[in-house]
Amino acid sequence: MTKKSFADGVRAGHRLQRALLGGEYSAETRAARTRRMNCWIYFVLFILTAVSVVIIIVTYSTRPANKLKTTLAGRKYDWPATCDQRLQWWQTGIIYQIYPRSFQDSNGDGVGDLRGIMQRLDHLKFIGVQTVWLSPVYKSPMKDFGYDVSDYYQIDPLFGNLRDFDAMLKAMGEKDIKLVMDFVPNHTSDLNQWFIDSVNRENGKDDWYMWADPKANSVLPANESYPNNWISVFSGSMWNYNTKRSQFYLHQFLKEQPDLNYTNPEVVQASYDVISFWLNKGVDGFRIDAIKHVFENPLLPDEVRNPNFKPGEPPYSSLIHNETTDYPPLHQLCKDWRKVIDKFSTSQKPRFAVGEAYNPIREIMKYYGTNGDEFHFPFNFFLLTLGDFTGTGVNKTVEDWMSHAPRCGWPNWVVGNHDNNRISKRRGNAYVRAVNAINLLLPGTPTTYYGEEINMQHVDIDLSEAKDPFALQNPDIYKTVGRDPERTPMQWNRSANAGFTNAGVKPWLPVASDYQTRNVAAQRADTHSDLWWYRSLANLRSSHDSFKYPGYQAIKATKDVFAFLRFHRTDTYNYLVVTNLGQKTSVDLSAVSDAGDIVLSSTFKRVGTVGLAAIDLDVGEVLVFRINK
Ligand code: GLC
Repeated sequence: MTKKSFADGVRAGHRLQRALLGGEYSAETRAARTRRMNCWIYFVLFILTAVSVVIIIVTYSTRPANKLKTTLAGRKYDWPATCDQRLQWWQTGIIYQIYPRSFQDSNGDGVGDLRGIMQRLDHLKFIGVQTVWLSPVYKSPMKDFGYDVSDYYQIDPLFGNLRDFDAMLKAMGEKDIKLVMDFVPNHTSDLNQWFIDSVNRENGKDDWYMWADPKANSVLPANESYPNNWISVFSGSMWNYNTKRSQFYLHQFLKEQPDLNYTNPEVVQASYDVISFWLNKGVDGFRIDAIKHVFENPLLPDEVRNPNFKPGEPPYSSLIHNETTDYPPLHQLCKDWRKVIDKFSTSQKPRFAVGEAYNPIREIMKYYGTNGDEFHFPFNFFLLTLGDFTGTGVNKTVEDWMSHAPRCGWPNWVVGNHDNNRISKRRGNAYVRAVNAINLLLPGTPTTYYGEEINMQHVDIDLSEAKDPFALQNPDIYKTVGRDPERTPMQWNRSANAGFTNAGVKPWLPVASDYQTRNVAAQRADTHSDLWWYRSLANLRSSHDSFKYPGYQAIKATKDVFAFLRFHRTDTYNYLVVTNLGQKTSVDLSAVSDAGDIVLSSTFKRVGTVGLAAIDLDVGEVLVFRINK
């Protein structure tokens, strides 16, 4: 600014002052007017400030408070102080089931393999999985796709060899991923040398399997004179005639899966040897297959008919299996296996055992053992098999498990596996995010079947293309019992065969037709995808003690809504999980707190602090709120 223009500015200022103060008044009058004007200004400022303060007070006092109410009623479950507070990997991590034929093919034969799994470990890290349960990879004629083992000490050439196995285990170790093997004790393949020897009564193996003479006084030819009426799980008699021994052998599953005889101590020892071999290699534990089928009533009485049997159900369901399942001394054997496993456990490398049994609640709880001396937990299939998947149904299922589990019995949940339809088929696509949320956010260990993180679909497979023996043995009801639809190749990307195997190769089961849009690569690129939802859930559960420890309280169960609270004394906050398993609805959860901060939203759209008196929920929507203590 120049000097001239500065002087001009001062003169203009004086002119303005004169105009405002009423022209050429005396200095005193001007001072009085100035004071009066200042008073007005202060008065207006005071009023404005007062109004603002009132507005702020009113806003804050009427805004719902985010604080857990002390009046919250309902039964709480907590991890007792007398149980071990140092949680192990099998308690905090997610178990991810890999069906090896279908995960990743590395050698272009259309079947997945161990080297393939190695290539995909980063995916497991991305979704926050710490444990792999691998369905059987032992040498097998594959009549039941590995659940018919011909050599427990070898890897089937389809999957690789022992060197590949060691390499895979090492690669997993480097990424801090645990490996749980599938152990199939109930039966072997009929091509197992043990069975061949038993048929030939050689090498002391005469009694290694369950042999029985044809029924006495039968008018039928010997090979039709079945010892009793027992029906195998996959249909047909549980007995198969062997001409060499002129005897029947028992098979609870396929006739190519003869049952071992665990009343023979040599068989028990052989099972210890198998377990020890793999534990020595460094595996972290076992999923023990078809456990309830291991013993049968030695008197071989007929089983009674099931009065509730309905046509269209598998023939196995027509009998009540009191003579062939959960038969003593089953639990003693489980305890003995556990002792073998425990011998390999150290504080640096604790080992783990989980048992597979579809049983009523009281029966299943026995597998925890007395004082935890059987399995670390038996698989909990009740969410998987639940018919009434409503808020009330799910709540009751959770309550059942929590209330029946023994003290220090660690809870767990399974929502999919290779023997059951995919979540999308059972619950509908709209609810897959909710099912994954329930699985990952309930107290205890979740198990996820491969592909559920991207919501893989049930793939209808025509009988002419069916591979599963359960389907092939039951052509009339193959759509209900067939297990191929949930075993199709993992969808990695939009390239030919979904990146599962090379282009031009025919995968062992067809790739789902939606693979170009539904695949891991596409979902990784979309932060609002099912994959990212799964990852966020995994991340949440591994970041807070409220989810690691089993503190749990059911909050609301209606036809639509299932809501629960998670907490732990060491955590700064509580978490309220709200799921809608029904239709569009609104729910009042103000009994918990007046407001909550949204930390996860299944639509990825909702954020901020919201009042809990009227939470609007879309079909299948999930919200997780952080609640102050
Ligand atoms: C278990 C397996 C199933 C198999 C059966 C016989 O139930 O999960 O796939 O067919 O045992 O081994």
